[in-house]
Amino acid sequence: MNRKFYVTTPIYYVNDIPHIGHAYTTVAADVLARRNRLLGREVFFLTGTDEHGQKVEKAAKEKGRSPKAHADLLVENFRKLWAGLNISNDAFIRTTDDAHVRTVQGLLQILWDRGEIERREYSGWYCTPDERFWTEKDLVEGNCPDCGRSVERIQEENYFFLMSKYQQRLIDYIERDDHYILPETRRNEVLGFLRNNALGDLCISRPKQRLSWGIPLPFDDKFVTYVWFDALVNYFSATRYLVPGAEAAGLGDFWWPADHHLVGKDILTTHAVYWSTMLMALDLPLPGNIFAHGWWTIEGKKMSKSLGNVVDPNAIVARYGADAFRYFLLREVPFGLDGDFSEEALVGRINTDLANDLGNLLSRFLTMAEKYLKGVIDIPSDLTAAGPHPFARECEEAAINAHGEEFWKRLQFHAVLDSIWHIVRGANNQIARKEPWKLAKNDPDELQRVMFDIWNALRLATVSLYPFMPEASEKAWQQLGLKSLSEEGKQILAGGCRWDWRPGYEVKVSKGEQLFPRIEKDKEQEKAEPEKKPAVAAASAENLISIQDFVKVELKIGRVVSAERVRKSEKLLKLQVDTGETRQIVAGIGKAYAPEGLVGRKIVVVTNLQPAKLMGEESNGMLLAATGADGIPVILTPEKDVEEGSRIK
Ligand code: MSP
Repeated sequence: MNRKFYVTTPIYYVNDIPHIGHAYTTVAADVLARRNRLLGREVFFLTGTDEHGQKVEKAAKEKGRSPKAHADLLVENFRKLWAGLNISNDAFIRTTDDAHVRTVQGLLQILWDRGEIERREYSGWYCTPDERFWTEKDLVEGNCPDCGRSVERIQEENYFFLMSKYQQRLIDYIERDDHYILPETRRNEVLGFLRNNALGDLCISRPKQRLSWGIPLPFDDKFVTYVWFDALVNYFSATRYLVPGAEAAGLGDFWWPADHHLVGKDILTTHAVYWSTMLMALDLPLPGNIFAHGWWTIEGKKMSKSLGNVVDPNAIVARYGADAFRYFLLREVPFGLDGDFSEEALVGRINTDLANDLGNLLSRFLTMAEKYLKGVIDIPSDLTAAGPHPFARECEEAAINAHGEEFWKRLQFHAVLDSIWHIVRGANNQIARKEPWKLAKNDPDELQRVMFDIWNALRLATVSLYPFMPEASEKAWQQLGLKSLSEEGKQILAGGCRWDWRPGYEVKVSKGEQLFPRIEKDKEQEKAEPEKKPAVAAASAENLISIQDFVKVELKIGRVVSAERVRKSEKLLKLQVDTGETRQIVAGIGKAYAPEGLVGRKIVVVTNLQPAKLMGEESNGMLLAATGADGIPVILTPEKDVEEGSRIK
């Protein structure tokens, strides 16, 4: 097994406002980094910002700042987003770092000395906003084929990297290594392009009088380096000064080449062709893989500033949490294909996969474990690998699948998540089949075994989910009574995700906060979008629950012992209610009932609701009330006197 793992994201243009596209690549790289740390590898995960070029220079001028001062301000947008998304990058490179600038100049000098760069007269069509030259036949109706804007004819002397001579070598390399460019469709596109077109040489300089915000060529300071040449070198230059222990001589050689460069499909050519040939000319090893992912559209439309539909990842994280967003990005679309984002799709995933399947499983299990076993999970003394025990085997196989090298080598995150959900769904079925609540009454030994199985399935699912949803997984790990996900996770993965791993201490689970609460669509929004309401028939069919679901709700008769208003609230009353034990309930009936009129009354209480805080007051349960005329609540009371604590069935 490789000892080290090095993954990169593109370095983002510092003057862009971070959007879902930036978040996507960086989350994917983070998942790889976290998984590889769990595998016990030394990891270097690099992201950063691309800070030279005309756009930054122009924007800075408009603000009356120097380009560097401008970049210093804007880079914070990215740092902040990465913190919010729980990105565990080991370094953050900026192309304005001195050491990067020196590396770029050092490499240019080597290429110049070796005759890999030539000075030539050049004329072409230049697109200023895109900072790119085009040939006559590239143009579309005389305009830039990329952005559609007008281009200027420019004639000047420039420096060229002799890229064309590497054409055949590059074709051979890509043909030999079917993992070098992924996914397969993109690999075929690049090969098709290389086989059917003559590769030109690459203009790698810009005269200083036209662009001054760049790295001067070391052999001619009247020119600066073309921004892509500068930017691509970041992946290598970081290994000279940003890797752990970089001061020690030779460490850079330990880290280069990267295992994966993750990029969007639009910048695949620059990586697959420019970068690969640059490395060939420098006699440096090529990266292990360049992976081009697809693009997100937003509710079916291209994301663009002019349409005003740019998705701000900060807002999504604030609303739904980093884990849910991370999960969505990698679950919704196979990595490599284009996908469509909508808040509705995100909420759908959260409610179905996270709240329903996973969250419910965990909270039901923890509730039962606390109720029937005082939280203690008995790990069988004769525990062996899954063997013939079908549920254990199913879970073990799914976990092994989820860690399959082939999925990970080809970055098939959705397939990994699918395997993990095999465990989650299997465990939910196991609960339905084994009915632990019945076993609690008549077969305590079998109850212990069944509960251990569910616990073990949750352990395997949680450790496998960690790279995708680190925060929730850490919390679930603690709730399952385990100690350190990073340490124990390493053991579990090193041992091949087997069923018979044991923690070596007494496991006592403890139910904590609900990790994936359902997102209820707010009423305001529903009112504003009546056409989005599901058809009534469909909704009511979906709303049907089974009797097993219904009996999960514990209803009891309670007697109001005391009642008072919650400070600063018109609506909320704080009640002490005897339901066999005294509990505090906060209820929104303050407009309809005076507190003193409630004392002594018998009411109906849901007693197994998770505690909630309302205006700072803890509520342990809920009283039932009908909605009367004008929406006024009417509390339910028993028709005859019944003792407090009586069950309602
Ligand atoms: N600075 C260059 C990269 C240099 S790497 C040596 C650059 N920067 S960028 O800020 O424009 O990066 C954009 C990244 O976001 C690209 O990987 C691009 O594919 C990605 N995306 C931009 N819009 C996107 C979507 N709508 N969906 C998914 N990714 C998208 O290019």
